[in-house]
Amino acid sequence: MTFVVTDACIRCKFMDCVQVCPVEAFREGENMLVIDPNECIDCNLCLPECPADAILPDIESGATAWIELNKTYASQWPVVSRKLNQTPDDAEAFNGLAGKFEAYFSAEPGKGD
Ligand code: SF4
Ligand code: F3S
Repeated sequence: MTFVVTDACIRCKFMDCVQVCPVEAFREGENMLVIDPNECIDCNLCLPECPADAILPDIESGATAWIELNKTYASQWPVVSRKLNQTPDDAEAFNGLAGKFEAYFSAEPGKGD
């Protein structure tokens, strides 16, 4: 099992998750994070931290569509392990919106740390 970041993270990027991960499993895209399945140790610490409820264990039905995306971009985006200033100013306006992947997904990498 691993944990995955879903489209609920897109344009929210609150970054509370990265602060609690004991193994630096998060990778940063331009407007969302993903979890590297090769690093995640399934500790469940990040899930309750996300204000957008964007993190799920891969065994949940809502996670299935995002497993491949996490795997793919985990190998392309840089490691991020600290909450710096990457959260967009308008993050709350996108919290809970439907259809964010189709409207806003970016394959560009973030800055990482
Ligand atoms: Fe990191 Fe644990 Fe979340 Fe996996 S479940 S990404 S190891 S905090
Ligand atoms: Fe994204 Fe939630 Fe982390 S919005 S950056 S998965 S705290």
